[in-house]
Amino acid sequence: MNISLVYISLSGNTESFVKRLATYLETKHPDVEIERVNIKEMVKYDQPFYHMTTPFVAFLPTYLEGGNGLDNGDVEILTNDLGRFIAFEQNYEHCLGIVGSGNRNFNHQYCLTAKQYAERFGFPVLDTFELRGMQDDIKRIGQRIETLYGLV
Ligand SMILES: Cc1cc2nc3c(=O)[nH]c(=O)nc-3n(C[C@H](O)[C@H](O)[C@H](O)COP(=O)(O)O)c2cc1C
Repeated sequence: MNISLVYISLSGNTESFVKRLATYLETKHPDVEIERVNIKEMVKYDQPFYHMTTPFVAFLPTYLEGGNGLDNGDVEILTNDLGRFIAFEQNYEHCLGIVGSGNRNFNHQYCLTAKQYAERFGFPVLDTFELRGMQDDIKRIGQRIETLYGLV
């Protein structure tokens, strides 16, 4: 059994969350392999995108160009590579859902890009967390993933 966590992180918050989430899952399920797929690194080192053959969960922080999230401010910046990976060879068919992250100061734009991806690719927003996420977020989202992979 293999759990894949596919993410992009620009300033390290999502990366920190995904690392801690992987530790949470590994500790509870030592027999399960947790794979972390870092899209920013793949692009940085010119590694080609590939077809996912097993189910995965995506993690996406929100970076939008200004605005208020109502009548403007819904243009994604900086995170588009995750969308490209999900679109690559219909990888979205294996995506169990997306976890959005952001900062509540952005009000209507809070975690908006994850909602846009859910709409665009036809998978659910599983949950959201703020900045690096708290231990409660790790536990709640970890349990959601355990359920999705049939581990409970
Ligand atoms: C330029 C910029 C724009 C942002 N826009 C939003 C936004 O529209 N909505 C939101 O919820 N968070 C927004 N954020 C907050 C980030 O999503 C948040 O800091 C997140 O934890 C960053 O994740 P990362 O460190 O993994 O890149 C923005 C941050 C920056 C720097």
